[in-house]
Amino acid sequence: MTSANPYSEAIALHVTDAHHDLVIQRPSAGLALQGRIRVPGDKSISHRALMLGALAQGETVIHGLLLGEDPRSTASCFRAMGAEISELNTEEVRVKGIGLGNLVEPVDVLDAGNSGTTLRLMLGILASHPDRFFTVTGDGSLRSRPMSRVVKPLQQMGAQIWGRKQNSLAPLAIQGQVLKPIHYHSPIASAQVKSCVLLAGLMTQGKTTVTEPALSRDHSERMLRAFGADLTVDPETNSVTVTGQSQLTGQTVVVPGDISSAAFWLVAGAIVPGSDLTIENVGVNPTRTGVLEILERMGADITLENQREVAGEPVADLRVRHSALKACEISGDVIPRLIDEIPILAVAAAFAEGTTIVKDAEELRVKESDRITVMATQLNQMGASVRELPDGMEITGGTPLKGAEVDSYTDHRIAMSLAIAALNAAGTTTIHRAEAAAISYPDFTPTLQRVTGLG
Ligand code: S3P
Repeated sequence: MTSANPYSEAIALHVTDAHHDLVIQRPSAGLALQGRIRVPGDKSISHRALMLGALAQGETVIHGLLLGEDPRSTASCFRAMGAEISELNTEEVRVKGIGLGNLVEPVDVLDAGNSGTTLRLMLGILASHPDRFFTVTGDGSLRSRPMSRVVKPLQQMGAQIWGRKQNSLAPLAIQGQVLKPIHYHSPIASAQVKSCVLLAGLMTQGKTTVTEPALSRDHSERMLRAFGADLTVDPETNSVTVTGQSQLTGQTVVVPGDISSAAFWLVAGAIVPGSDLTIENVGVNPTRTGVLEILERMGADITLENQREVAGEPVADLRVRHSALKACEISGDVIPRLIDEIPILAVAAAFAEGTTIVKDAEELRVKESDRITVMATQLNQMGASVRELPDGMEITGGTPLKGAEVDSYTDHRIAMSLAIAALNAAGTTTIHRAEAAAISYPDFTPTLQRVTGLG
């Protein structure tokens, strides 16, 4: 029987033990990405909807929740502390909140899996639940990521937290306390730190303020307000203040598509000749759109269509067509607005004319993997020219990439970035441990097969 698609094996997943190899064989005639797709729900908003839903009074209904591994970790932690959360699905998840301060002491260790957002935000909530004891952990990657950035401000509020390396590494033990409000000047622009302190502040008597050096994503602020918290923002000083002890009330949350997941398709469409792809229903909150600004500066042809506001978050359809890219500098205040997109922007830079410099991004070294070292070594393996900097990388584009054996280092964004690079690399690329994509994008491979026609 002749197959209608001569490249039917061109994108295949091979399951080996617990791990998956994603094998991508670029047809010699090249390929183009076409059509209209949707990306899964925003990861940051999904976590927050589950957490605030659990802390609120009454029912929260979540439409469009991300079904990735990370929000599953959040749901299971809050279930273990008494919140009733219906079976997770994208259509509708119902959370029966138990009211601020009413979490039940869990009888076992809370496992945040691979998710920094789950662990760091949850720490603010746990530390401020007096008379209850909690232990929290995560997978090998999360157990090596710095928690002192949240433990320190929580200790200033009076929290009691213990762990390895001067209480900075999970597993952590927390004896909940009555905390006091503080004004925290965060040394880093981190939405996880900001959100952790604000969530702890919810339970205090008085005003808790977080000031950050540059604006990080503001989903917590938007959602806390929608749930009825008394919260004010001072954009002049990048400060947010929450007044404690206001009750939260369950809401309907509509989760937009994740711009961090859309970014893979934006870069794929930009670098693969002949592409014309529309990604529908993507969240375009200005604290997240650094990737659009940088791709535009690099000469990408991206248009925002059908711009609208859905449940307090701006949303648009993004259309991308192939175009020649040029290098640019990525540094300064834009970094927190595109921090998760730097691996895929490094792929764009590898196909851009000139040398792209990424600076001020040392945070990349403490993400799910050291994203500077891993992207540099893996792209170089494919023939790219990437030089590591202490706080970023220098990528000289233009050398044609070739297929190679590469590894995700169990980091979801690395797995997907390398898959997009493989679409424009001659021959066959094998990405080891590609199952990591399921952390934020469980349907990544079938979507890749569909938009390339290489199913
Ligand atoms: C997130 C904040 C970011 C981001 C992470 C999700 C959040 O981390 O990298 O993937 O949901 O608050 P930091 O703001 O801590 O850098």
